[in-house]
Amino acid sequence: RGTIGIIGAMSQETELLCAELQHSDEREVMGFRFYAGQLDGQQVIVTQCGIGKVNAAMGTTALLSQGVSRVIFTGVAGGVHPSLKVGDMVVSTDCLQHDVDVQALGYAAGLIPGEALSWPADGELRKLAVQAARTVEGVGVLEGRVVSGDQFIASPQKAEWLRTTFGAVCAEMEGAAVAQVCARWNVPFVVIRSMSDTADHTANVDYSSFMPVVARRAKQVVREMLRGM
Ligand code: ADE
Repeated sequence: RGTIGIIGAMSQETELLCAELQHSDEREVMGFRFYAGQLDGQQVIVTQCGIGKVNAAMGTTALLSQGVSRVIFTGVAGGVHPSLKVGDMVVSTDCLQHDVDVQALGYAAGLIPGEALSWPADGELRKLAVQAARTVEGVGVLEGRVVSGDQFIASPQKAEWLRTTFGAVCAEMEGAAVAQVCARWNVPFVVIRSMSDTADHTANVDYSSFMPVVARRAKQVVREMLRGM
């Protein structure tokens, strides 16, 4: 059923997957390095897009230009929902850009005039992602709204604002941009995030220490997901 695109923002999030590709082939598309190959019985293209919404939008566009039929975004995030602990995982129900603000013209917070408020993830990919995440022992799995902005959230007040304003479960910096591009091209997507921190005053410290550990876990879940596809 076609090639699956896998995107991560940072090298820690994609290099583990790239290392495990079979029959791999490297190429450059629109300034992004693409690693194509077989992984767990699927034809995939893995790429690292860089941090933030603009990089994510460009990387997704480049990926979709290669004709991928589905997109999985994998990486880490700051947990905003009170039940989330470092190491837990979130599967997106939908994604929204929390730093969009056209409220002065009467639009809802996060709404880009003329666009949807949020972009829904694909039902089948969500189900596969949740099943895959549940196979990891000791890890809580939560489905919910992933909010993205060009900001590292490290304040309990801001985290609470994201939760009450948008119903966010976690905050990161790329998912909604991937979602917006996929929606435009009508390509199914899902965002899978491991919690590296809880977006509060210790977020910077937790992020640095847990990022490598949880990035590994996110990779395991993507591979488990591919096996189920
Ligand atoms: N990615 C990981 N932790 C994050 C946070 N607290 N804010 C934004 N992006 C993140």
